[in-house]
Amino acid sequence: MNIFLTGATGFLGGKLMKNLLTGTEHELIVLVRNVEKAEALIQTFPQEQQSRIKLVSGNITEPHFGLSDDCVKQLTNQVDTFYHAAALVKFDADLRDELFAINYEGTRHALDLAKALNVNTFFYVSTAYTVGKHQHGVEALYPLDNAYHNPYEESKVASEHLVFAYGNDMDVSIFRPSIIVGDSKTGEADSEFTLYGFMRALDIFKRRTAKKDDAHTTYRVVANREGTSNFVPVDYVADILSLALTKAEPNKIYNIINPDPPNNIDILNLFKQALHFERLSIVEDTQNYELSAEEEKLNNMIVPFKVYLAGSIQFEDSNTQELIRDSDINHLNLTHETVRMIINEYFSA
Ligand SMILES: NC(=O)c1ccc[n+]([C@@H]2O[C@H](COP(=O)([O-])OP(=O)(O)OC[C@H]3O[C@@H](n4cnc5c(N)ncnc54)[C@H](OP(=O)(O)O)[C@@H]3O)[C@@H](O)[C@H]2O)c1
Repeated sequence: MNIFLTGATGFLGGKLMKNLLTGTEHELIVLVRNVEKAEALIQTFPQEQQSRIKLVSGNITEPHFGLSDDCVKQLTNQVDTFYHAAALVKFDADLRDELFAINYEGTRHALDLAKALNVNTFFYVSTAYTVGKHQHGVEALYPLDNAYHNPYEESKVASEHLVFAYGNDMDVSIFRPSIIVGDSKTGEADSEFTLYGFMRALDIFKRRTAKKDDAHTTYRVVANREGTSNFVPVDYVADILSLALTKAEPNKIYNIINPDPPNNIDILNLFKQALHFERLSIVEDTQNYELSAEEEKLNNMIVPFKVYLAGSIQFEDSNTQELIRDSDINHLNLTHETVRMIINEYFSA
């Protein structure tokens, strides 16, 4: 197959690119905005795989990604499947314009390009957190006026509606991972965002406080004891996206989630152990506490992630279970030990 891929220099896209090349004869057309970065990544692949990658330089914020008419003409009728994984994965409220330019307009440009190229199938990588403030995640579109935590979620819901609006032009399917974490076998993760942004913030705070204060001060992170952390290993997500080439059905949404997520308190305790940060303590969000100035700083550093410590969302994933049925992929069973290994791998790297 000839496959077009965006976001290949990212955490998930890099893993997906490797998957699509390994043990196959697929040819990849890979959209990159930083050719040097992409070339460095591709250098790490076997020569035979490198020869099946064609890099195209462009930016998803531009119509047709800024590709020349000649380039579009050359690629027309040459692409079977288009994966759109590029996005801005940040939750800050003040990035709303940028989030919409990259995530929403970027998706419109991807769909327009896929249509111009006459592709058969378009796969959009969204997020399970399009669920917004609801506590039950379904495998259907959420309303545009959903209640959101941040403009990232909002930009992704709007993009999903856009994707389904192109359903008459090509087969479209949507894939919604929850929080993507390192490889389930090695722990390896090439990410700075979501869980990794959270862990980095804790690490920075620990280093900062190590220099001052007396050894007895403790620092409280406020979390909801009932809340859960829904992690999915990057290899599980990439395996499902790869299988989608042959198994996905049009106009379907696939939640790629952990059906049995650990609670936040357990995860925070794993951070604490991995960081050797004994002075970190976790308190229930009773609304009835007074934080010290340092604790305020700590809790503010992790504000964008805190909404994900507060809830306990149950996600349906029956479409995904159907997709992986009779395949080599087992329904996710993420053990405490695997989560510990993934977290330890980050702090030991
Ligand atoms: N990470 C998660 O926990 C998570 C969870 C659920 C869903 N997702 C979704 O999964 C997808 C991949 O996420 P990720 O974690 O792999 O993100 P990532 O590591 O930040 O990678 C983002 C990718 O998008 C590319 N990109 C961003 N803006 C672009 C632009 N204007 N033009 C061209 N390329 C651009 C980046 O290129 P550069 O390398 O040049 O920056 C990079 O390849 C996203 O759609 C995200 O919403 C992620």
